[in-house]
Amino acid sequence: MTLWHGRFESSMASSLWQLSESYPFDRALYHHDIVGSRAHVLGLVEADLLSADEGRTLVAALDEVESEFDRGVFVRAGSDEDIHMAIERRVTELAGPTGAKLHTARSRNDQVATTVRLFVRDALVDVAQRVLALAETLFAVGESDPERYLPGYTHLQRAQPVLLAHHLGAHAWALTRDIDRLLETRRRLNVSPLGAGAVAGTSLPIDPGTTAALMGFDRAFANSMDAVSDRDFVAETLFDIALLGVHLSRMGEELVLWTSAEFGFATLGDAYTTGSSMLPQKKNSDVAELARAKTGRFIGNLTSLLVVLKGLPLAYNRDLQEDKEPLFDSLRNIGLVLDALRGTYESMTFNDVVAARAADDPYLAAIDIAERLVETGMPFREAHELVGAAVGTSIRTGHSFQDVVAETPALASFLAVFDSRETLRSRRSRGASGPVAWPNQAETWHRVAADLHRRLREVGGDIAEASA
Ligand code: ARG
Repeated sequence: MTLWHGRFESSMASSLWQLSESYPFDRALYHHDIVGSRAHVLGLVEADLLSADEGRTLVAALDEVESEFDRGVFVRAGSDEDIHMAIERRVTELAGPTGAKLHTARSRNDQVATTVRLFVRDALVDVAQRVLALAETLFAVGESDPERYLPGYTHLQRAQPVLLAHHLGAHAWALTRDIDRLLETRRRLNVSPLGAGAVAGTSLPIDPGTTAALMGFDRAFANSMDAVSDRDFVAETLFDIALLGVHLSRMGEELVLWTSAEFGFATLGDAYTTGSSMLPQKKNSDVAELARAKTGRFIGNLTSLLVVLKGLPLAYNRDLQEDKEPLFDSLRNIGLVLDALRGTYESMTFNDVVAARAADDPYLAAIDIAERLVETGMPFREAHELVGAAVGTSIRTGHSFQDVVAETPALASFLAVFDSRETLRSRRSRGASGPVAWPNQAETWHRVAADLHRRLREVGGDIAEASA
């Protein structure tokens, strides 16, 4: 029997039931739904819609239901369509007639909006924490040997030598923006929809501000119709994860390249690679490949929700139930990718000699010769042309670039640039890649990371991190 049987003469078609039941996936919301219901009960007591005794009975029943879920002994009844109805049904069994008062001045429309906000609020902190752990790993791997260098690429063509710390740091900086975005999404979503009812609020004397404060929201909704129909926070979360996924995918692609025989810059630990069922010599970078591939579903999940939302008339429509599976899927998979990538970088052996040999490619010093000429007062365009001509001569004649430079009177005094360590040291400008510029970046990084830890602690995160 459904909760709305009063109005209906026949029961639901089984095809409708199978299409619409959401319990199999939305049971993941049980804790946050119960948090919302506890606040709702206290709000009803405050508003004198429940006696203090009735309130205690309902809270005790909610506690019991939560414990049943925690212990894995909650039994779904055949008529439990979604997590909200399952919990209310069980509360009513446990609390007797008082159970019938739980849903006073509430609709599943404001209830589900509240529950999902509470759920996402916690999930965002969890994801942000894992992103910060990965970013810190990237920085730590770089700083563990700040001398190592490799070619920096543009168009995947060797461009200039860069420090490994600087290169990995580039990924870490992108991740700090992802963390900031996740925390900003959290800040924006922190508004309670509870009390909006089905669409228009209620004539019963509840105070949405009271329940908002009990649940730790910054404030209550201003417009009941907006409150029940707004899933911007889910879309934002899916976007944040999609863009984060794009960053992780770039890193994955790079690891695939670095671990190929053609590059040979890095080797990954056995625990983070797989073998081949047929080819005995294979060692495959599956974590990196899956990091790259999972981003397809992150983008798909965002797209799917945006399409669901775009045609909806105000206010609640059942379409909104389709927010959950993309959300759960993205949250689950981003966590898997973040943790596995972190372990992968920790397990990585950087092949210094191979990477340095690639970066010592003499042509990569061409810009440094031009810059030395600029220091003598030569206009840059002229210097570029002069060095370009030497590059052309080297390519045409097959003589090494060093030899050509040594034999060109205007350039012969700059042979020191062919020492990559020397060219790295000569890059001193802010944010440049080199050991002289590095301490400034590292110091800024550690300040930004400390600030992100502080922001995470402020929103109840960083606890797992501290004990991990
Ligand atoms: N499972 C539903 C959802 O996720 C709960 C709200 C249902 N409300 C309704 N009026 N049918 O959106």
